[in-house]
Amino acid sequence: MVELLAVILTLFSGLAFVYLLKYVTKSKQDFPQKLPPGSMGWPFLGETHGFLKSHRSNSLGSFLQEHCSRYGKVFKSHLFGSPAIVSCDFEFNMYVLQNERKLLPVDYPKVMHNILGKFSLILVKGDLHRKLRSTVISFVSATKYETQFHRCVEMLVLSRINSWDTNSKQVAFYKEAKRFTINVMMKHLLDINPYDTVASKILENFENYIKGFISLPINIPGTAYFKALQARIRLTAIIKGIIVERRKCNHVRPAQGGDLLNVILSKDNLSTEEMVSLVLDLLFGGYETTAKLLSLIVYFLGGASNALQRLKEEHQEIRKRKKEGEPLNWDDYKQMEFTQNVINEAMRCGNVVKFLHRKAVEDVKFKDYVIPAGWKVLPVLSSGHLDPTLFENPLEFDPFRWDDNSTSKQVAPFGGGPRFCPGADLAKLETAFFLHHLVLNYRWKIKGDDPPLALPYVEFTGGLLLDLEPTG
Ligand code: HEM
Repeated sequence: MVELLAVILTLFSGLAFVYLLKYVTKSKQDFPQKLPPGSMGWPFLGETHGFLKSHRSNSLGSFLQEHCSRYGKVFKSHLFGSPAIVSCDFEFNMYVLQNERKLLPVDYPKVMHNILGKFSLILVKGDLHRKLRSTVISFVSATKYETQFHRCVEMLVLSRINSWDTNSKQVAFYKEAKRFTINVMMKHLLDINPYDTVASKILENFENYIKGFISLPINIPGTAYFKALQARIRLTAIIKGIIVERRKCNHVRPAQGGDLLNVILSKDNLSTEEMVSLVLDLLFGGYETTAKLLSLIVYFLGGASNALQRLKEEHQEIRKRKKEGEPLNWDDYKQMEFTQNVINEAMRCGNVVKFLHRKAVEDVKFKDYVIPAGWKVLPVLSSGHLDPTLFENPLEFDPFRWDDNSTSKQVAPFGGGPRFCPGADLAKLETAFFLHHLVLNYRWKIKGDDPPLALPYVEFTGGLLLDLEPTG
């Protein structure tokens, strides 16, 4: 009897075990609640050091290459002090960017919050983001067609190019490009000319302001972080002073369109703090990014003689249709088709912005995986740009690939979704006008080996020194 009971018990527990196993496996298939594979790296430190390690910006870098081949295009890690999911999957990246408002809002490191301030368009969310962004969008979409803006850009291109001392025959191009883009922004936003005394004060403080974004938040005199916070205080005071002056002037003679300041002063739903923040955000957004794009183009064209020749021909054609010294206009810009290919290719290949910061506020399902609420999500924009399944020879700078309609359009250098870069069209126009005068007046050679590096934002550590020769 005891033996019979033992047999029944064994059979019963065996059946129960099989049932349990089946249930567990089934429920796993029905509710796949697993994290993407990956490694969390060192305790506390995670893998941030490896993730930020510099590499050529027209490559993915060894960290991403190794992680993608070991774990796949979406993997877990521990970055910037938080558990994180890194995505090198173009489709998932687009999903992340499109769902910024509800599921995956921006989540920049704390150091940026302290420097940019609580009204920064780049950081704010919800209704405040909608309000500030709509002001920027209406300003940018109106001015890109304005003759006054085209004239101002061209005048600043010429003043930069004409300042080059042809005797020394050498320029540090990255610095020149930065001067040009900050001058455009200062004129366009605040009606400040390059030689106004306030211009050099803004420039000086702005360099320190920007350096703070990639610093450690140690607020003691001498640190980059401390200098950035001080620079923000000074910049705020300068811009507030300009606002007070402009209000007085507009009171006497009401403003008619013009720069950003007039546009924001005409809105009665913006506080002075929000106005200052908008000006700083646009100066920040439009300064280094566009200068990096210009420098990338000059760098890549230095090794692409066929593309440079075609670019030159396009601009010579435009000149032939114009009178001597006649300024460029919107119609000319629309004729610059190959120039657009060069810009697209430099953006794809050079990756001005490598990745963006987001955070899951709810559990997010991706294929068989779940990204838990509270985790950081970092869409890597460069991964799609350099994906050999999307682009043939992806590491090669080849603007001609954009002539071909079958070329993948899966690029996102300006981000996507509700935070798509509002300055994209301005950046392209400034770049095209600069290239017009550069290729018509100069040929250049890059001195030494100074490739664009992802640090993680693109940098030319040697300043991109060029040997210049006027084409005569
Ligand atoms: C080649 C030049 C540029 C590149 C590559 C670039 C890239 C980007 C990217 C990737 C974003 C999205 C950030 C995110 O989703 O978190 C962005 C946002 C932004 N950009 Fe640009 N940008 C460029 C030029 C400009 C210019 C010229 C301006 C100003 C006139 C500007 C102003 C901004 C602002 C204010 C935002 C924040 C938008 C928001 O959060 O709603 N950018 N940019």
